[in-house]
Amino acid sequence: MGLFSSAESTYLGIDIGDSSLKMVELAKKNKKIVLNNYGFSEDMGDIKLTSLDDPDYVAKVINKVKKDIGIVSGSASVSLPSFSVFSSVINLYNVNKKNIAEHVNEEARKVIPLPLEEMVLDWKVIPQLNPDPNNPNNNTKIFLTGSPKKLIKKYINIFNAAKINLVSLETETFSLIRSLLGNDKSTVMIVDLGANSTDICIVKESIPYLNRSINVSGHTITEAISQKLGISLEKASQLKFDLGISALGEKQVDVPQIVMNAVAPIINEIKYMVDLFEGSNNEKVEKIILSGGGAMLINLANYLENTLNIQVIIGNPWFRVSYPKELQPVLAEVGPRLSIAIGLAMRSIE
Ligand SMILES: Nc1ncnc2c1ncn2[C@@H]1O[C@H](COP(=O)(O)OP(=O)(O)OP(=O)(O)O)[C@@H](O)[C@H]1O
Ligand SMILES: [Mg+2]
Repeated sequence: MGLFSSAESTYLGIDIGDSSLKMVELAKKNKKIVLNNYGFSEDMGDIKLTSLDDPDYVAKVINKVKKDIGIVSGSASVSLPSFSVFSSVINLYNVNKKNIAEHVNEEARKVIPLPLEEMVLDWKVIPQLNPDPNNPNNNTKIFLTGSPKKLIKKYINIFNAAKINLVSLETETFSLIRSLLGNDKSTVMIVDLGANSTDICIVKESIPYLNRSINVSGHTITEAISQKLGISLEKASQLKFDLGISALGEKQVDVPQIVMNAVAPIINEIKYMVDLFEGSNNEKVEKIILSGGGAMLINLANYLENTLNIQVIIGNPWFRVSYPKELQPVLAEVGPRLSIAIGLAMRSIE
């Protein structure tokens, strides 16, 4: 049974991550979004994105989680990993709105490094806050994404095998924006620290203007601890969970230092992106929002804030969701890892 019984219409979001699969089921009741159910599977094991090549296996994992926690939805939304989707903001000058699709295709050929025949293109016009009334066509900003057809096919195969109706597919970034920002139009950076990659985007008016992924992440930190201390990955992972970047000077002084060294490339990437964005947009990134399992690393938010001199918070993807009060502590704990699945489930509600 779900946490709430007798759900009317339910909405399921499924995030197939590198280390785990997450599911969130929401329902709409009296105009409120309520939590119906959520669940994880850590069964993805060592299998990385290549597991998508084994649709029967992933389908089995999905249906096991569904069954274990009693999810009722027969339809779901799923996300595409940010690093596998090309996205860019393009400027079109003096184009007639009627021919816009033609111009977008022309520009896409220039900016997308793969043959367009192999991609599914999606784009939308970014509304301008202060358009020039005398020349509305002067500069049209377009947000363009290109997803490999082959990758989309893999997800279709998985959902066919699982006998779940795939209602929508979107880049993770959009799910994160929906769950962590809602209608907040401010300029922020979202840093999603996963098991195998860290995905960073700068979002302005809900559009992810700048997106980059690096392969430094939770696993990198565990590996660094394991190597430096000559201990197993399991022990290293436990030390990472227990100590994170806790105050130096305590007994286990090694671990925080190793963690700080391991996250240095993430800090460099953040600095690079902030400089790039602020340099070309003449505006500040107001804050950094952390999500993904790595967001829970002890003292990481503080450490980043002090090092970068920008406000850093752990995102709260539940802020528009109602749930029983007694679940608050546990939901706060799992929230960062569920941000994408929550955003996906919200997609069909909005
Ligand atoms: N409390 C915690 N402290 C430190 N690290 C944590 C904590 N909880 C989870 N992690 C780390 O977060 C990572 C998993 O995060 P997440 O579930 O967001 O990854 P994923 O979505 O499976 O991977 P990816 O996004 O790269 O595909 C693991 O490396 C795990 O060790
Ligand atoms: Mg993830």
